[in-house]
Amino acid sequence: MRVNGQAFRTIWQTDAGGDVAVIDQTLLPFVFEVRTLRRVEEAATAIRDMVVRGAPLIGVTAAYGVALALREHPGDASLATAIDSLVATRPTAVNLRWAAERMRRVVAPLPPVDRAARAYTEAAAMAEEDVASCAAIGRHGLTLLRELAHGRGGEPINVLTHCNAGWLACVDWGTALAPVYAAHEAGLPVHVYVDETRPRSQGAFLTAFELGAHGVPYTVIADNAGGHLMQQGEVDVCIVGSDRTTATGDVANKIGTYLKALAARDNGVPFYAALPFSTIDWTMDDGVHEVPIEERCSREVTHMRGRTAGGNLDEVEVVAPGSRVRNPGFDVTPARLVTGLITERGVAAASRAGLAALYSGHERH
Ligand code: MRU
Repeated sequence: MRVNGQAFRTIWQTDAGGDVAVIDQTLLPFVFEVRTLRRVEEAATAIRDMVVRGAPLIGVTAAYGVALALREHPGDASLATAIDSLVATRPTAVNLRWAAERMRRVVAPLPPVDRAARAYTEAAAMAEEDVASCAAIGRHGLTLLRELAHGRGGEPINVLTHCNAGWLACVDWGTALAPVYAAHEAGLPVHVYVDETRPRSQGAFLTAFELGAHGVPYTVIADNAGGHLMQQGEVDVCIVGSDRTTATGDVANKIGTYLKALAARDNGVPFYAALPFSTIDWTMDDGVHEVPIEERCSREVTHMRGRTAGGNLDEVEVVAPGSRVRNPGFDVTPARLVTGLITERGVAAASRAGLAALYSGHERH
């Protein structure tokens, strides 16, 4: 996607030597800065500190992290340590484990001398696949949006989204926002209600930034406003991303997604999750009880980050000092509240049968 007229992806290899560049998402939307990752430890820190974030992007970053480790030490111990350290960074998004295990399967059988080059090739292939998957999600989602637009006389479709599941969360295009970009490109009028998404404000900071940069009309709302807007008939469809979707169609996503799904059901608003196959955890059936939910530090709740009137990035305290705080990063929306799953293969019912109809056993790995 374009930033100030220049085409960017969220991650790329910078040179023949194999350094990896990412956009520092902790500084957006106020500062656009590219950061170079040279060692696996830097890749792990970038994922943990959310310099890169979003399930597909952290998967691809982990893949490049394995390549960085093998560039330095191509032996078995280095491979195992790299994978363990990368997978431990964030527990909820299954894409991380999926990507790391794919790297292990591909490089482990090779002689150490061949591993690094193969790892870079595989990481690059993963990045390309993610772009292709997101583009396909966009095409399938566009069909849904066209159906919703039918008979509306050119009135914009109002989409509500939570967190950031746009191109910044992937390599390009995004998952939940891919149908929005596809609609915008196709000339179908679309407007997005962007949940602010406290505590880290991925909606207010990142989704607003990327929709604005692309010229898609949007309105930022406080996290608590979505239910009211749905009651007033101002939301036509909710589309969110996912960090892990179980084989039965339960959707783990950014904290607060579940509440939007409840409000959507109460108001007859269709609620879709958009995700590539790397987000499906075929080993899990009961998302509510099985998905590991990341607990993040209390400071994300007690403090807010932003730009001061003087133009500096700073933090302010927003909770009574001494308060006890919880900060679960994700929640699980049960499949029964999900209208459908928009995947690169098409739109599936949120159920075991729905997913199985799109993916045969062989393709699950
Ligand atoms: O904590 P984050 O910012 O990594 O959470 C991101 C989300 O919850 C996204 O909705 C999800 O990863 C899907 S991204 C295409």
